[in-house]
Amino acid sequence: MLTGPTEPFKNVILLPQTNQLLALYTIIRDQNTKRTDFCFYSDRIIRLLVEEGLNHMPVEAKTITTPTGQTYDGVSFLGKICGVSIVRAGESMEQPLRDVCRSVRIGKILIQRNEETAEAELFYEKLPEDIHERNVFLLDPMVATGGSAIVATKVLLEKGVKQENIFFLNLVCCKEGIDLYHKEFPNIKIVTGAIDSGLDTKKYLNPGLGDFGDRYFCI
Ligand code: URA
Repeated sequence: MLTGPTEPFKNVILLPQTNQLLALYTIIRDQNTKRTDFCFYSDRIIRLLVEEGLNHMPVEAKTITTPTGQTYDGVSFLGKICGVSIVRAGESMEQPLRDVCRSVRIGKILIQRNEETAEAELFYEKLPEDIHERNVFLLDPMVATGGSAIVATKVLLEKGVKQENIFFLNLVCCKEGIDLYHKEFPNIKIVTGAIDSGLDTKKYLNPGLGDFGDRYFCI
């Protein structure tokens, strides 16, 4: 069930809509799903997003010898990666990232809405010193308007990270968020598992799954 627009988006990598993936989304979208199941099945989707992100990392040719004495012409990853979570919901994506990429470095960015201006503002960032030399997995499960992701991405660019080296991983997004984000950063790849049909009046994704951070961490 692809719930949103079906036309392809440039630089959006949508996970294959297999029955397995759709079954996982059906569980986490269900309002009756309890927190432990919500976390377990969200983590499974997040690992798929990380695996897909890794498909886009640069590699170099590497030949090894197998236990049978034969050679195998394979590849090995080039360069370093790191994760950057947008606090709080993005922190849910840290452990699944660690499960796939052992001992990965992880930075954090905290964005909050200024109540007077209604603008998303940077409150805190802690990032690896050498982030400009890394491929960065930017982690935020829900892309609604894209406002926080845009502020977070500007921080990464100010640190010298190239757009081509940023992969924005999220579970659910919508055309509005994608368009706004890509208007600013057309060369950044968004890796997602679902493109929803839009936003409701409270700026929640529709059909969405509610408040991801609350469901993952609180209720
Ligand atoms: N953040 C959420 O947690 N849910 C939405 O639907 C949109 C943004």
